[in-house]
Amino acid sequence: MSADLTFRQPTEADHARVLSVLEPWWGGLKGAAGAQERALLVPRLYFQHFTPASRLAERPDGTLAAFLLGFRSQTDPDTAYIHFVGVDPALHGQGLGRTLYTWFFARMRDCGVRKVKCITSPGNAGSRAFHARLGFTESEVLADYDGPGLDRVAFTRSIAEP
Ligand SMILES: CC(C)(COP(=O)(O)OP(=O)(O)OC[C@H]1O[C@@H](n2cnc3c(N)ncnc32)[C@H](O)[C@@H]1OP(=O)(O)O)[C@@H](O)C(=O)NCCC(=O)NCCS
Repeated sequence: MSADLTFRQPTEADHARVLSVLEPWWGGLKGAAGAQERALLVPRLYFQHFTPASRLAERPDGTLAAFLLGFRSQTDPDTAYIHFVGVDPALHGQGLGRTLYTWFFARMRDCGVRKVKCITSPGNAGSRAFHARLGFTESEVLADYDGPGLDRVAFTRSIAEP
């Protein structure tokens, strides 16, 4: 992974920058409908009210290299949730996604969280392979999980031990 990257907490000013990569970084997954679905999953409120456990990676010229949007569950303090993660395709396979997840696990463990959850689309093979390598257990396909036609697979991982 490039040693030149810097990591920081996102701000509201980063919202538009993250929206702009949801199409290219996902490689057109599920076409225009998929792009719209992803954009609707990342409203501004994540950059207003969910930033302490979220992270951006930037190159020295300020361009976005990766992001992770995550938070501690308001319902179950034992659990944290990774809502969205993306890495610039030019940097795939260099450990950047793992670095962001490892940071999130450590931060949440320090708060007393014991479990991390997230979901992905069944057709996102790269995401499923990544989460398997990161030690997550995958559910069966959950039909209509996020609404009619919006199937998902769910991932769970213990972070109780470093
Ligand atoms: C999924 C994603 C975040 C992975 O980021 P990354 O920086 O390329 O992943 P890493 O290099 O840290 O890989 C960590 C491990 O996962 C494995 N992995 C990552 N992507 C993989 C893929 N597409 N297929 C198989 N294995 C994969 C790596 O081989 C690595 O294994 P290792 O540590 O045992 O060598 C990135 O591919 C991405 O942004 N995809 C598009 C957006 C997306 O689908 N986000 C997730 C759903 S919200």
